[in-house]
Amino acid sequence: MIEILSSILASDVLNMGADVRRMQDAGVDSLHVDIMDAHFVPNLSFGPAVVSALKKAFPNYHQDVHLMMDNPEKYIAEFVKNGAGAITVHAEIPGDVKAILQDIKARGVKAGVSVKPRTEAETIRELLPLCDLVLVMTVEPGFGGQKFMPDMMPKIRALREMGYKGQIMVDGGINAETAKEAVAAGADALVMGTALLKADDPAAVVRACKELGE
Ligand code: DX5
Ligand code: ZN
Repeated sequence: MIEILSSILASDVLNMGADVRRMQDAGVDSLHVDIMDAHFVPNLSFGPAVVSALKKAFPNYHQDVHLMMDNPEKYIAEFVKNGAGAITVHAEIPGDVKAILQDIKARGVKAGVSVKPRTEAETIRELLPLCDLVLVMTVEPGFGGQKFMPDMMPKIRALREMGYKGQIMVDGGINAETAKEAVAAGADALVMGTALLKADDPAAVVRACKELGE
């Protein structure tokens, strides 16, 4: 089964609810919420209040929260309280990523680790037993609408070769075409911002991507 997530970073912030409803109607499985702190990445996006508002409006819609921030440990409790269903932190942050993953899991939500393009699969080998998901960035994190990096596919293969059986999620420049490469390499969760939110027929994009897993 391929999980399709829409990144609300590409939504119209003043009409986010309508955009999320459109994604739900198109068959998108879950929401991907990008949190950026202007330190770990050169951009600012949302905070916990957005997760809380989405939870109130869409209580049954799974929210996958991608923390592109330094010191994420300070915010885990708040994101969980506000409705996150999964929380992913970056392998490149200063601090004890293993302890952060343990904390996320202890709070009853899924835990993930993400790797930027220049971070090798080997770097996270010891973290894999704690990960419900690994988020392989297929662009430099920070902005939507960038070009997919096909040279990240060997990293996905390497993770599978290490015996990792959890979810492998790709994020950045994913559309129905680039998704084929990612799924062929071993990915089973696809984050899409631009390709879904700017599509004339997002349901067709969802269908095409779902078929890759059949
Ligand atoms: C980038 C974010 C992505 C972004 C993807 O740093 O992590 O989730 O929203 O956007 P697209 O699909 O437009 O590349
Ligand atoms: Zn993301």
